[in-house]
Amino acid sequence: MKRTAATVALLAIAWSVPAPPAGAQERLTRETLAGADYVRGRLAFQQRCSACHTLAEDALHLAGPNLWQVIGRTAGSREEFSYSETLKEAGFAWTPDRVDDWLANPDDYLPGNTMLIPEPVPDRDRLAMISFMMMETGGADWPRPEIDIAALETPRGESPAERFPSFWNHLMHNTTHFRWVDEEREFVFDAYYNKDGSVSSSMEGVDGFWHIDDRDFFCYAMQGLPIRPNYFVQCFPVAAMAIPRFSEQLWQSPMYGGAILYGGILAGRPTDDAAESAPD
Ligand code: HEC
Repeated sequence: MKRTAATVALLAIAWSVPAPPAGAQERLTRETLAGADYVRGRLAFQQRCSACHTLAEDALHLAGPNLWQVIGRTAGSREEFSYSETLKEAGFAWTPDRVDDWLANPDDYLPGNTMLIPEPVPDRDRLAMISFMMMETGGADWPRPEIDIAALETPRGESPAERFPSFWNHLMHNTTHFRWVDEEREFVFDAYYNKDGSVSSSMEGVDGFWHIDDRDFFCYAMQGLPIRPNYFVQCFPVAAMAIPRFSEQLWQSPMYGGAILYGGILAGRPTDDAAESAPD
């Protein structure tokens, strides 16, 4: 499935708007997709996509649009979601091959899109991930394999609070302080991580969500910020965050567009009640 550099160069010249070469056979056929590894696909989706995308019908948009029945639908066409101009004007309907090409090359395939994934999805995971996504979004005409899904949901059987008590107490009871600096603006806000996986903040309209992934990385996204696109995502190893340290500035991260995000931890929260109960 891997293309040579020469083919990629040729395709790049031939495709002003990404389109399959005329008369090309689809690579991800129904047979290939139906035979893919569901468990691998599920895990890959959870690790790499679920922070920003829901799959079920009528589920909420997160930082990314809900993906129900995305295969076959015109790119960038969910009315309630605010897409980049790039996606709105892409002018094609998603096929498994197109999603495959995009995830293999997020920046080059649709330049200017605002889906910020940290790295391309590796070859070994894409087929299974797309197959899984189709099964969960009403886009597959083959049955879901008979698997005990509940057993997959809690692979370690323990909650983060039990597995990482020091980290948990620190995160749930203190305040994370941020300062965003880019060429146009600078602003500060505080974030409060909640037990239900949500994040509330001191800045109106800003909230987020967090989870611990399979590598024991703590990943979170904040959305509704006065930047473009209006969110950011970061991941840190839980192990690096377990020891309470307090300072307005403990780390700094280069962000897209030359911005720098400074982060720190302040002891306590304005009112633990507000933080505990928000958001509903
Ligand atoms: C950091 C958040 C984030 C992550 C992680 C993410 N996406 Fe996205 N996704 C977005 C955003 C934002 C858009 C809309 C992009 C735009 O408008 O340019 C999008 C758009 C899409 C679309 C097009 C939807 C449409 O209606 O046209 C698909 C398909 C998609 N993502 C699949 C995935 C898959 C599969 C993964 C996992 C590898 C993934 N995304 C990971 C944020 C994310």
